[in-house]
Formats: sequence, structure tokens, C-alpha cells
Amino acid sequence: MKWRNKSLRRRLAFWLILPLGVISALMLLEVRSSAQKAANLAYDRVLLGSALAIAERVVIESNEVLVDVPYVALEMLTSAAQDRVFYQVSGPENKFITGYSDLPEIPQRLRSKSDQPLFFDDTYKGMPIRVGVVSHYVTSPRLSARVTIKVAETVESRTALINEIFASAALRQAVLIGGAGLILWIGLGWGLRPLASLEQALNRRSPRDLRPILHEVPYEVSNLVGAINQLMARLGASIDAMQRFTANAAHQLRTPLAAIQAQAEVALGETDPEQISKTLSHLRDSTSQTSRMVNQLLSLARVAPDAGQTIADPFDLSDVCTQTTKAMVPLAIERDIDLGLEAPAPPVTIQGDKTLFEELLRNLIHNAISYCPAHSQVTVRVSNENAQGVLEVVDNGPGIPAADREHVFERFYRITGSANTNGCGLGLPIVREIARRHGGDAVILAGANNVGTRVRVVFSQ
Ligand SMILES: Nc1ncnc2c1ncn2[C@@H]1O[C@H](COP(=O)(O)OP(=O)(O)OP(=O)(O)O)[C@@H](O)[C@H]1O
Ligand SMILES: [Mg+2]
Repeated sequence: MKWRNKSLRRRLAFWLILPLGVISALMLLEVRSSAQKAANLAYDRVLLGSALAIAERVVIESNEVLVDVPYVALEMLTSAAQDRVFYQVSGPENKFITGYSDLPEIPQRLRSKSDQPLFFDDTYKGMPIRVGVVSHYVTSPRLSARVTIKVAETVESRTALINEIFASAALRQAVLIGGAGLILWIGLGWGLRPLASLEQALNRRSPRDLRPILHEVPYEVSNLVGAINQLMARLGASIDAMQRFTANAAHQLRTPLAAIQAQAEVALGETDPEQISKTLSHLRDSTSQTSRMVNQLLSLARVAPDAGQTIADPFDLSDVCTQTTKAMVPLAIERDIDLGLEAPAPPVTIQGDKTLFEELLRNLIHNAISYCPAHSQVTVRVSNENAQGVLEVVDNGPGIPAADREHVFERFYRITGSANTNGCGLGLPIVREIARRHGGDAVILAGANNVGTRVRVVFSQ
């Protein structure tokens, strides 16, 4: 039933008209049965009157029961409408005396009460009829007999009365439902007017205008407007952050690109082959620095909080760390660094995106190899603490001053005077984003014996 979701008016109309309709139908059933009772009460009284009038005219003459039917009594009935009237007088043992001999018998269930006036519904010659019965004792000095008088009439006028009462009640209900529907339609239109003016105001806004909505709105939608305002505030903050980041990234890229251009120009103006080769090697360094920065920017974009859903596959952290550390060994050998791994034999299973974990560890090992002097020791350690997977990269290099340990997680933040001048300050922010996407975090501590750096990353399992 899709249509109900589309319009508030239709939904409300449905939920108002349907229950009202059901209640009205039940009420009309009740009206019909009350009308039937009332009509029977009124018409049965006349039926009884006619039967009693006939009963009074029953006499016994020379041992014979005689009836002089007062036709005026039957006229009381026929005068009302198009109804037809029948009567029957019978004596003891149901012996027919006069009237219509084939009128229906008293139903079995009522026979025991036949000394009181009775009424029942039946059919006669295919017509529905209502029958009234009275029993009467007639006595003469020599004989006493019980006679039964039945007066029946067709039910046209009763039905007409019931139908009239029913129709007028149904009309009232229809007017009520129709009126309720109309009031709902108009009232809702009235109630929704503030929303229409809000819609116009929002349509007129420029896409950059993320100021909160201050329109007066109905109480019922004020929470919705509040939520939209909060969303706009968050959107504004995230757009600001994005703009700052883009400006920063452009600025950071401009420096090595300007260097590349300058070095290329120097190389072009140079004639000494030795100088040319020196400038070209600078050019290569600047190019690789730019290329690393572009890669780091892409990584950061991939792990940013709004970069979509994180994959949550289970994998063994020890396994991933072993593979990644192995892959970094050639670089460590090149820089004369002793790169080692301590991982427990039982698997440390965590949920997440394996490739992001590899990226995280690569950044940490890359930092340790880049900032530690030759012959330093770098250890990758995996452990299982309090049902959490823990990854640590420990080195005995220069360390990070306590004052900088939080700042190094800010984008483009670098410690002045660091050994490696090719970094761009995005490695640790990438590490923290990846950790947080997996419900964990990254912190920097001092290395063993307060020497070097220990980067500790905790993941929820
Ligand atoms: N193991 C470490 N030992 C000493 N200093 C470190 C270590 N790791 C990081 N740092 C310091 O923290 C700073 C930030 O590191 P980060 O990895 O975020 O950026 P980066 O290495 O400069 O650039 P990149 O984006 O290429 O990784 C570095 O400039 C460096 O000074
Ligand atoms: Mg780095």
C-alpha cells in the first residue's frame, strides 16, 4: 500500500475514515435492531387489539362456538398502509372455526405459553407476516371452551418504518464522516502552511548558507527542524574542515612542485654534466616526495570518517603483521636498521579491513626506519590484552618529545629538525583514523627505558 506513505493527508484520512466507518457500521447495526424492536412494539399492540376485539365477539350458542368478526377491528390494521391482514379463530383441539384455515401454526417453542398473547414471524403465501395470537375462554351455562384467535399482517409498513429510521441514521453518519474528512483535509492544509513557507525559504537559500532554520514551525515538527539544524551545523563544520584540509594540501603540494619546476629550469640552463646529474637527482627526490604526499593524501581520503562503510572481516593480526614486517625488511636493511617481530603463536583475531591494517603498520615501520639512525632496533609487537588486540612499534631512536606526542596526530604536523625531510606529516593521522574506524585508538609513549618511541595501537576485537 505505497500510496499511504506518500501523502500525510491520505494517511490521516485513511486512519480516520476507516475506524469511523467501522464504528458507524456497528452503530447502524444497533440502530436497525432497535428500530425493529420499536416497530414491533408499536405494531404488535395494534395486532393484539384486533385479536382481543375478535375474542370478545366469540360466543357459545346451542353448544356451538360462534364468532361475529368485527371487521372494524381488522380495519384498524389495514388502514395503516398497504399491508394485508388475515385472521383465524380455532376452537378446542385446534378445530378451525372461521377465517383463513391455512395460517401458519404457532411454533413449537411458543406453544407452552399459549395462554398469554404471543407474537411470531412467519411467511404466508410467500409473504413475510407477523402473527399475533390470543387465547380466550368462552363459557355458557352448559359449555366452556378455549378459543385461539390469530391475527396476521404482512410486514410492509414495519419494514418501511425500519428502513426510514435506518436511512436517516445512515445519512447522519455519512454526513458526520464526510464532515470529519473535510475538516481534516482543510485543517491539515492549514496546519501544514508553516512547512510550505519553510520549504520556500529553504528553496531560496544558497547552497553555502548553512545557518540554522529559525522559522516558526508546529510543535510536532520542531524536533525534525532541530535535527536538520544539527545536521547543517555538522555539515558546516565538516565543509570547513574539508576546505582547510584542501587549502593545506594545496599549499603543501605547491612547495615540492615549485622546487621541481625550479630544479628543472636549473638543469635546462646547465651545461656541466656533473651539475646536470646533481640537479636531476634533486629533481628525483622532489618528485618522490611529491608522489609520497599524493599517496598519503589518497590514503587519508580513503580512511576519512565519511569515506563509507568499513569492511568487518575477521583476520589474524599476527599474520598481517608478519607479512607486512617481512615486506619492509629490505628497506630496513638499506637503512641499517634491525627490524624484528614479536607475535604470539595463537591467533589474535580482530574484525576489520585487512588492507587498512597493512597500511597502518607500514606507516609506523616507515616512521621508525625513517627517523631512527643507523644500527637502531625496531620491534613490531603483537599481543592480546584484556580481549583487545594490541599492536606496538617500538624503537630506540630519537623519540618524540612529550609535548609533541598529541600534535603529531594532526594533519601536516611535523617536528622541526626531524631526520627525514621527505615526510609530509600525514602518516600518524592516517594511523589514528584507521585505528578509530576499527573502534580503537593510537597513542605515543616513550620507548623502553625512556629511550626512543613506542606507538601503541589498541583494537577492539
Ligand atoms: N618513530 C619515530 N621516531 C621519531 N620521530 C617520529 C617517529 N614517528 C614519527 N615521528 C615524528 O612525528 C612526525 C609526524 O609523523 P608522520 O608519520 O605523521 O608524518 P611524516 O612521517 O612526517 O610524513 P608521512 O606522511 O610521509 O608519514 C614526523 O615528522 C616525525 O618528526
Ligand atoms: Mg610518517
